[in-house]
Order: sequence, then C-alpha cells, then structure tokens
Amino acid sequence: MRALVALLALAAPLAFALEEPVRLDAAPIDPRDVASLQAGARSFVNYCLNCHSAGMMRYHKLQDLGISEQQVKDNLLFTADKIGELMNVSMTRKDAKECARPGSRLAVYVHAQLLPRP
Ligand code: HEC
Repeated sequence: MRALVALLALAAPLAFALEEPVRLDAAPIDPRDVASLQAGARSFVNYCLNCHSAGMMRYHKLQDLGISEQQVKDNLLFTADKIGELMNVSMTRKDAKECARPGSRLAVYVHAQLLPRP
C-alpha cells in the first residue's frame, strides 16, 4: 500500500510535466506607457469595478501610475471613502449572484458593450 501511495505521488508531477505547454497569446501591453495605464485605470474603475473587484489592491496604489492623491479622490474613488481602502466591488452579494448565475445575460450584454471586439 505504501509503495502504491509513493508511486502515485511520483506519477502526479510526471503526468503534469507530460502535458502540452500552455500557449499564451502575446498581450499588446506596454507597461511603460503611463498615459495608457492611467486610461486603463479610469476605464476599469468606471466600467468594470461594478462587478469585478480588485480586492487585493488599495486605491492609493493608483498613485504609482502618476495619478495624484487628489485626482484619485476626485475621480476614481467610487467604492470606498478613503484612499487607503481596498478596491472592492460595489455590487451587493445578492446582485452578484444574480449576475453570475448560469444563463444570466447581463454579463454577456455588458461585455458586448464594453469589451473590444476581436
Ligand atoms: C455587469 C457585471 C459585469 C461588468 C460591468 C463587467 N463584467 Fe466581466 N464578467 C462578469 C461576469 C459575471 C463574468 C463571469 C461570467 C462570464 O464569463 O460571463 C465576467 C467575466 C469576465 C472575463 C472572463 C471572460 C472569460 O471568457 O473567461 C473578462 C476578461 C472580463 N469579465 C472582463 C471585463 C472587463 C474588462 C470589464 C470592464 C470593461 C468587465 N468585465 C465588466 C460581469 C461583469
């Protein structure tokens, strides 16, 4: 039994290593293009943060993009009162469940309006 457990433990990483490598598309992003990053932050906060949280990030980190504390407070601080707070989603848990429910067309509709077409 112990040998079987050891064999399974060894086989798991081996099976993983034999899988095809994941091919990722190149993202046309230039992290040095500060104006583009600022525009992205504005779009995200205005359109996406209603449903998608950035709950590991605090509003004050937007200053790393060259946006002043006052600009963040005046223009980007929609889901919190203080700049040190997390960028949590504004929608209620109940509404989120409804939005993400299988068959819900809300997210499909919103994405069709907001996301660029391939
Ligand atoms: C009305 C709520 C809502 C808004 C606003 C919204 N999303 Fe979503 N989004 C969802 C839900 C729910 C899902 C998961 C279900 C799905 O894929 O349809 C999702 C999934 C995604 C995915 C993953 C799709 C996939 O195929 O796996 C991406 C990427 C995404 N959203 C980007 C965005 C961006 C960028 C914005 C802002 C421009 C945005 N969303 C605005 C609700 C929303």
